Amino acid sequence: MNILAFESSCDETSVAVVRDGREILSNLIASQADMHAIYGGVVPELASRKHIEAITGLTDEALRQAGLSKGELHGVAVTYAPGLIGAVLVGVNFAKAVAFGLNVPLIPVHHVRGHIAANYLAHPELKPPFLCLCVSGGTTLIVDVRGYTDMKVLGGTRDDAAGECFDKTARVLGLGYPGGAPLDRLARGGNDQAYRFPRASVDDHPLDMSFSGLKTSVLNLIHNCQQKGEELNLPDLAASFSAAVSDSLVPRMMEAARLAGRTQISVAGGVAANSRIRADLETACGQAGYRLWLPPLALCGDNAAMIGCQGYYELLAGNRGDMSLNAYANRSLEAG
Ligand code: KG4
Repeated sequence: MNILAFESSCDETSVAVVRDGREILSNLIASQADMHAIYGGVVPELASRKHIEAITGLTDEALRQAGLSKGELHGVAVTYAPGLIGAVLVGVNFAKAVAFGLNVPLIPVHHVRGHIAANYLAHPELKPPFLCLCVSGGTTLIVDVRGYTDMKVLGGTRDDAAGECFDKTARVLGLGYPGGAPLDRLARGGNDQAYRFPRASVDDHPLDMSFSGLKTSVLNLIHNCQQKGEELNLPDLAASFSAAVSDSLVPRMMEAARLAGRTQISVAGGVAANSRIRADLETACGQAGYRLWLPPLALCGDNAAMIGCQGYYELLAGNRGDMSLNAYANRSLEAG
């Protein structure tokens, strides 16, 4: 079954063709990051306009690279939420038109379910149940993946997402946007004990997290040093900060796995590319005897192949959208 998939929820326009949920026939990504970098973050109106400019050409090219004609498509999958609403609507309306024109099912896919599904593309032998740490620019969740379309959120951030925390810290350090990857590179030569940052917990909710205090703490430290003219050791700062983020995530994943009785762990989303978090997960899973599935870096960020993969499983489960996806805009990860 060949699924044409669209992802346009933030600043990447992506179109892919995926066969039987596991094989990527094409996966094109037009990133707008350079344009948004001028402003230090995503400008929603500009993002929507760029998606409109890119989506038709990418679709033609995705089909060409897949070696398929439109008549060989069996469904059209699209990210419906969460995301910048103008940006999401570009993909949703384009997908609606294609599905209607080809008379094939329109399949709405929750963006975070898509990130989780990126693991199926990378690891053909991976099957639910497993626990997934979903960490991106807008999401930080511990998800129990009970089945391909049956998910339960066990914990999550009460305020900022981990990626947002990386991006804001990187911005103040002048590392550009998006700053997670350059901050990660800077951290590699640093001493993670040099600066002490808080690890917050939420009373009576051990699997929930909070990153706003960490963000404030690191920004205050940077500003204080700048005002006093004191020099900061940037690799040490980046390493200490990355350790604080990882310490908020990895032990909670291990505790969630213990509570849920899961022995397979995976990670998903842009922040899943972080080397400290990956290394800490490897160590913790090794000690606990859990199997760890890490997606390749190329499939951590936003891409349409992950949407096509999850779309296949949604279609198998009978989760088709009608032609008005408006009612889906606020649907949760658990609802599908
Ligand atoms: O999944 P993604 O591409 O978009 C969203 O759905 O949000 O994630 C983007 C986020 C950004 O915050 C970016 O800074 C972060 O992922 N990121 C990283 C790394 N690579 C990307 N954060 C930490 N370490 C990295 N290596």
